[in-house]
Amino acid sequence: MSSTYDVIGVDYHLKRHSDPRLKTQIYRSIESGSAILNVGAGTGSYEDPRYPLVALEPSLRMIEQRPVNSAPAVRGAAETLPFRDKTFDVGLALLTVHHWADFERAALELKRVLRKKIVFLTWDPEVSPFWLVRDYFPEIFRKDQTLFPKMEDFRKFFPRCSIENVEIPDDCIDGFLGAHWKRPEEYLRPSTRQCISAFQRLQNFDRGLEALRCDLENDQWYERNRELMPLQSLDVGYRIVICEIF
Ligand SMILES: C[S@@+](CC[C@H](N)C(=O)[O-])C[C@H]1O[C@@H](n2cnc3c(N)ncnc32)[C@H](O)[C@@H]1O
Repeated sequence: MSSTYDVIGVDYHLKRHSDPRLKTQIYRSIESGSAILNVGAGTGSYEDPRYPLVALEPSLRMIEQRPVNSAPAVRGAAETLPFRDKTFDVGLALLTVHHWADFERAALELKRVLRKKIVFLTWDPEVSPFWLVRDYFPEIFRKDQTLFPKMEDFRKFFPRCSIENVEIPDDCIDGFLGAHWKRPEEYLRPSTRQCISAFQRLQNFDRGLEALRCDLENDQWYERNRELMPLQSLDVGYRIVICEIF
């Protein structure tokens, strides 16, 4: 099984870690003791050792970066889950669904192997772009709009689902695309971009980077985004989608 993350996930563990505030929101709807399947588990961010958990991940490179003593990991993809019917209570699918080749097939598989619910952390492709993808990398925004399922797609496959907005703290510990909304210099660092798949997909981002660097040097960025400065968190479109299985 080959996987994009065998190539782009080489140093994922360096910049991608659980943010405790997001983790609290993710687990809010999960009963203690629930048996969890973490689909697209990556290096194990947001896994909680208090729950019995199995990680499912297609990329060996990502599995190799899981910490010693983390939950057992099985190699596989969401579209063909290598588990018997109704094996787990709850599924987690965190910042992974936009990488899946076939959302419908994966949804059927999740309904087959889960008993209670699946909790997604995803991004709503119908929100307005935040400054990074509005002013510097509009091609990322356009591509992400095609990759991320719409909220109505979740409702179509999981008719009983609730959707929560996720406020991203200004000091977010995880390093996903929208995490540094108040720390623009972060996006100039190659090590930050290396752990964000949207940048990995871009053929050429020199022009956007140069424009950002220039705007930061001459204070244009601060002028244009002045209203962000007093904020401690921002909704840039991330959503927790909690879907009941029945
Ligand atoms: C952005 S990472 C997120 C990893 C982890 N959930 C986290 O929050 O840090 C996306 C993960 O989805 C995995 N992935 C890609 N295609 C997949 C598929 N079809 N089924 C399951 N996981 C997949 C990738 O290998 C990668 O580890």
